[in-house]
Amino acid sequence: MIFNPLVALVLAVLPAHIFAQDIVYDSIHNKTVITGTWATGSKAVQTGSGFAIPSNASFIYPSVTGMSFSFADNMWFEVARYRFNSNATNPGCITGVVGWFHGTYDLVANGSIILTPNGDGYQQIQDPCAATSNFVENYNDTELYQSWRIFEDTTDGFKLHLFEFDGSPLPPMFQVSTTPQMLPTEKLRDTTESTTTSSRKRSLLRRSTNAGVSSTVCLALTVGASAMSLLALVL
Ligand SMILES: *[C@@H]1O[C@H](CO)[C@@H](O)[C@H](O)[C@H]1NC(C)=O
Ligand SMILES: *[C@@H]1O[C@H](CO)[C@@H](O)[C@H](O)[C@H]1NC(C)=O
Ligand SMILES: *[C@@H]1O[C@H](CO)[C@@H](O)[C@H](O)[C@H]1NC(C)=O
Ligand SMILES: *[C@@H]1O[C@H](CO)[C@@H](O)[C@H](O)[C@H]1NC(C)=O
Ligand SMILES: *[C@@H]1O[C@H](CO)[C@@H](O)[C@H](O)[C@H]1NC(C)=O
Repeated sequence: MIFNPLVALVLAVLPAHIFAQDIVYDSIHNKTVITGTWATGSKAVQTGSGFAIPSNASFIYPSVTGMSFSFADNMWFEVARYRFNSNATNPGCITGVVGWFHGTYDLVANGSIILTPNGDGYQQIQDPCAATSNFVENYNDTELYQSWRIFEDTTDGFKLHLFEFDGSPLPPMFQVSTTPQMLPTEKLRDTTESTTTSSRKRSLLRRSTNAGVSSTVCLALTVGASAMSLLALVL
């Protein structure tokens, strides 16, 4: 690839959308700002002091399943989740997963959100059919949300929609507060000691999001490089 100051100059004056499809964050895309705390349905699961106790990698179990995301102005996020995964081959083996992690987020110009974990996240797996039925393990996956929208519902107020790395929608989350309720935005747990008691069951967890992010970043870089080479030819 030829890269000279002239090309740099041309690149600088070209609008950014020639290289990437930028999202316009207007009130049609998001009726309000994403900062604050959001929670699904009953709002029984919420980020902050009522859910996770990182110092001893434990949880205050909510009464029902759900998820909650918080986003702060200083670009920190926190996620709290409690869900059941059913097993099609073995309907009796419903796995409960309760998880917490925090870190920093990016609102990418193309409309995606990337959550980069801080390294102190963890999750507890309850699997009635496994040899070790209840264990805690570290959770430090980078998560990509392909897009997001915020609508205003006449009865429920502001509603955040997140779409997963593959485009599938998460259940809508409603605004709990405009100021994020989060645990301190710093490392809250020493992860040098492993909290895991079973290695066999770990393979059940999907680990694809990390790989997904890095491969698409590579693709984006390649596309960017080709655009620059083309420009060099034109000049
Ligand atoms: C939509 O989100 C963007 C990016 O965070 C923000 O700058 C903008 O103010 C939001 N729009 C509204 C209507 O709040
Ligand atoms: C973790 O710490 C909290 C608060 O200090 C305590 O109430 C809880 O029993 C502890 N849990 C475990 C599993 O040690
Ligand atoms: C479902 O249950 C079967 C049999 O116990 C097990 O082999 C399989 O790994 C389970 N699948 C998931 C996704 O948990
Ligand atoms: C957690 O993931 C982040 C982002 O990939 C990485 O920078 C960090 O080193 C990881 N921390 C641990 C403890 O694995
Ligand atoms: C936005 O860019 C990131 C890389 O920065 C990429 O992983 C993601 O797939 C892109 N999103 C869309 C909707 O193209």
